[in-house]
Amino acid sequence: MNQAALHKLVSNRLNVKTPKALFDLRLSTNLSLIQQLFFSLYPVDKHSKDFDKLLKLLPKLYALRPDELQRQDLERLEAESWYQNENIVGMQLYVENFNKDLKGLHKKISYFKDLGVNFIHIMPITTRPKGESDGGYAVNSYLKVDKKYGSQEDLLKLTSAFRKHGILLMLDFVVNHTSDEYPWAKKAKKGEQKYLDYYYTFEDRTIPDAFEKVLPEVFPETSPGNFTYIPEMDRWVMTVFNSYQWDLNYTNPEVFMAMLTNLVKMVNLGVDVVRFDALAFLWKKIGTISQNLPEAHNLVSLFRMCLQVVAPGTIFLAEAIVAPKDIIKYFGEGPKLGNECEVAYNASLMALLWNSIATKKTGLLYKSLTEVPAKPKECTWINYIRCHDDIGLGYDDSFIREMGWNPQQHRKFLLDYYCQRLDWSPAKGLLFMYNPKTGDGRITGSAASLLGLESALESGHKDLLENAISKINLLHGIILSFGGIPMIYAGDEIATLNDYSYSKDSSKSGDSRWVNRPQQDWSVVKKLGNGDLPQSKVYHTLKHLISVRKANPVLADTNNLVLHQSGNSHMLVFERTQDAKKGIIVICNFDENPQVIDSGWLMKLGYFTKGNPKDLVTDKKIDVKSGLLELQPYQMIWLKKS
Ligand code: GLC
Repeated sequence: MNQAALHKLVSNRLNVKTPKALFDLRLSTNLSLIQQLFFSLYPVDKHSKDFDKLLKLLPKLYALRPDELQRQDLERLEAESWYQNENIVGMQLYVENFNKDLKGLHKKISYFKDLGVNFIHIMPITTRPKGESDGGYAVNSYLKVDKKYGSQEDLLKLTSAFRKHGILLMLDFVVNHTSDEYPWAKKAKKGEQKYLDYYYTFEDRTIPDAFEKVLPEVFPETSPGNFTYIPEMDRWVMTVFNSYQWDLNYTNPEVFMAMLTNLVKMVNLGVDVVRFDALAFLWKKIGTISQNLPEAHNLVSLFRMCLQVVAPGTIFLAEAIVAPKDIIKYFGEGPKLGNECEVAYNASLMALLWNSIATKKTGLLYKSLTEVPAKPKECTWINYIRCHDDIGLGYDDSFIREMGWNPQQHRKFLLDYYCQRLDWSPAKGLLFMYNPKTGDGRITGSAASLLGLESALESGHKDLLENAISKINLLHGIILSFGGIPMIYAGDEIATLNDYSYSKDSSKSGDSRWVNRPQQDWSVVKKLGNGDLPQSKVYHTLKHLISVRKANPVLADTNNLVLHQSGNSHMLVFERTQDAKKGIIVICNFDENPQVIDSGWLMKLGYFTKGNPKDLVTDKKIDVKSGLLELQPYQMIWLKKS
């Protein structure tokens, strides 16, 4: 039982009802964990006064919580694990690319409703440096809306409209670093000791060199190394991401408390889900790669436990794009189980799906997914195929070897397949952060272009076009049914192709992730009534599948996923079950040729009790010949137990 469940239990037993009394109860329920986590990071002999400060801070932060959000907090506490509901379908978007600004976004609520989307991840909208800003992930403020998006009033109006329409909002909390123009950084540049201590700054290269021995590079092409020399202060600053993103020094408890304050003020704008950006990097230690360290987990859990006391209706998403066995740890382990992040990106599934498309086989996917330990029951995934970032090839080398492949050569094949280095590949992606020394690289590109739509439209080849559309629908269908919250990347619902215009903008040209950050094409949306367009085929299938998802509570995430081995290496088969009578089975063909599976075991699972069942994707009865079920190239079917 996690802390949120304990709060519900204790408050119901003691019949505590008023918001303030509930706050006190949450504080006392979480206090020993908060204390333990705090002193694990900030030793008690030096920091007992800092702990007192934190205890005084929490009620002050609670007093800032608007009444309306407090009421919502209490409803969510009662509802428990509300984020696992089958009703939630997400979309990630850049405000400026979607419909100009926050007011423009407000006008598009009906678009979300039409598609069935009710959870929006808005990319960073606060002030940032002019020129390069890593798409706003270099923050000049955690609260002040950049005027190109509108004002704070526009944001408040939008969040209030979202609440009225039952739409959830996710914003990023860029917790690992600020920009070099953030007020703390500016004061540090002036030599103010208090703020020098907010970052990792060094007067010479001794410590940076010691770190560099094992620290990997996040952006080796554009921002090599992990430290930047700042002439104004004649010091080296730790900058793990870009040179203008200064890493915050969380060994200083003041930084934690100042950031907690920023976090609370941010969620009070009406944020339901906090995307905890780059959280794997939060703690640094010489001699380690300074990712996923136990202290980073304790720190995330400390943020979580404090925010839960102040604003319990908000939850955390772990943005940890790390190895599968490391991602799962962000749900918490031991006493932190279920008390760290409620949601995590299923980056493993995402990368494995791209591997299956390129290899047309699902073996690596099965191997990797079956080896990952089960997640805590209160936690869930965000399942996605594309986002604003690149696709990293973070597979487990040992699994690649078990497939009989050489890990390095296999990764090279994937880069070749997706980045236009193989004549026969339909994919049109770009290389990202390629390191010729190691051969490592990542992939950028829109889902539609990576899945062959761009090249199919260029060649005018009908089969290629059909394949591309089927692949887009296949991957979307999987994220809608796999278990967790599906997150559609804006533009993918209308099969948007790569946007090459970034190469003409000097603030973007060095970063090929901009190829997959296109403008929303509203002229295409206007034409969706024409069912023959590839974009319409994608949009209407997606819309239909969203409605099927919402009509089937078995698709809520209750850790009810069963992976089935079908005996066909091109197929992925998984089932979502509730009890012996309820279930949905999803069968996917990753091959460019038709593939068959034996329908006998599907019968045994209970899918044919009333004759041949209907495929929920097409609403047509499936055909079984001589005991074999045949799927067309890249076809996916969803069957329901009846
Ligand atoms: C996250 C974001 C990415 C950004 C990085 C640094 O990984 O998704 O776009 O570059 O954090 O903030």
